[in-house]
Amino acid sequence: MKKKIMTVFGTRPEAIKMAPVVKQLIADEQTTPITVVTGQHREMLQQVLDIFQIKPDYDLAIMEKNQSLEQITSKVLLGLAPILERERPDLVLVHGDTTTTMAASLSAFYHHIPIGHVEAGLRTWNLESPFPEEANRQITDDLTSLYFAPTDLSRQNLLQEHHPADRIFVTGNTAIDVLKYTVNHEYHHQVLDQIPADHRIILLTMHRRENQGTPMANVFQAIREVVQADPKLDVIYPVHLSPKVQKVAHQIFEGVPNVHLIDPLDVVDFHNLAARSYFIMTDSGGVQEEAPSLNKPVLVLRDTTERPEGVKAGTLKLVGTQKDEVQQAMLALLNDDQQYQQMAKAKNPYGDGHAAERIVEHCKEFLTQDIM
Ligand code: UD1
Ligand code: UDP
Repeated sequence: MKKKIMTVFGTRPEAIKMAPVVKQLIADEQTTPITVVTGQHREMLQQVLDIFQIKPDYDLAIMEKNQSLEQITSKVLLGLAPILERERPDLVLVHGDTTTTMAASLSAFYHHIPIGHVEAGLRTWNLESPFPEEANRQITDDLTSLYFAPTDLSRQNLLQEHHPADRIFVTGNTAIDVLKYTVNHEYHHQVLDQIPADHRIILLTMHRRENQGTPMANVFQAIREVVQADPKLDVIYPVHLSPKVQKVAHQIFEGVPNVHLIDPLDVVDFHNLAARSYFIMTDSGGVQEEAPSLNKPVLVLRDTTERPEGVKAGTLKLVGTQKDEVQQAMLALLNDDQQYQQMAKAKNPYGDGHAAERIVEHCKEFLTQDIM
């Protein structure tokens, strides 16, 4: 009999990294996929669904402007319960560390449905950083039956917490699967067309809750000063739709001609702009995984990272959010070619682009065992 596998996701990064899994489930004749989106994000989620042509079976449509963590959590729990009761899937797959991830896992647990966690085992061991993601992923891993660890290090983290070794599979990160479909060397974009060919481009993203307010303002000031002193440098910043991010970005960058504040990009545009950039500055999780495959140095605008593989490989440099440190790191990359080349040439530690296939095979294997 076919196995019913439900995927639940709600934000842009979950959608991007679950898309290859959803596609693989649809292609597999032994599984019946059910796709549920919580709609924690709206426009930024829809962009991904459109690009990958994914039509959800259910959409909880929970987003409200500036809503609290409690609102997200309670709406996901209440919204998923009747769907789980009606569909009774054999397995629920969640991704990563958002509040959708944590609340969907709790909901599946309340219904005695096993959980598969894609991108399991990432840790900073600091519950305040990233907040609330570190707690979300630890809670999710406590409820999980099947762990899809992207790297050997994430597997070690899970073993250290005494999760069962025979349920942990190192698959690579599905983010790398996605790059096969998005990067195109013939790519054009209207913003790129405005920037002279001899200018260097920095691609910027910043959205984390713990960075909102002063840390974000410090970083933006640092960038503004560096960019204003170098007319052959451009910053492209697709600004996250969170009102708290929009406000600071517009306050500090408005009127600076070589800072281009644009709407969030769809993932094809974003990956191709990343591929055309000189380097990337970000506090995003997913971007830290993608950049090594694109040979782009990344200045990580955080004090911690759950992606130390990229730091060890040499692509990522943790620079925090203090103005002077951020400026020094930018100037070093702009002026020191040796350092630039070392970071740009590091090897991608996040997999071979076949993670989704492995994940679906492990799910089927698990579901044909006598588990209940
Ligand atoms: C969420 C995740 C974070 C992830 C990020 C990816 C949690 C607690 N946080 O953070 O882990 O890194 O997504 O981007 O799960 N908004 C829109 N339209 C959209 C998306 C967001 O208007 O399409 C606005 C809304 O006002 C919303 C606000 O942004 O209330 C914040 O969204 P929310 O999902 O709560 O947090 P993020 O900062 O996006
Ligand atoms: N991304 C995108 N458009 C943008 C910015 C980012 O498609 O304008 C992609 C990026 O390539 C990565 C993912 O979104 O795959 C990261 O999402 P985000 O930074 O919002 O969340 P995080 O990874 O930090 O949870």
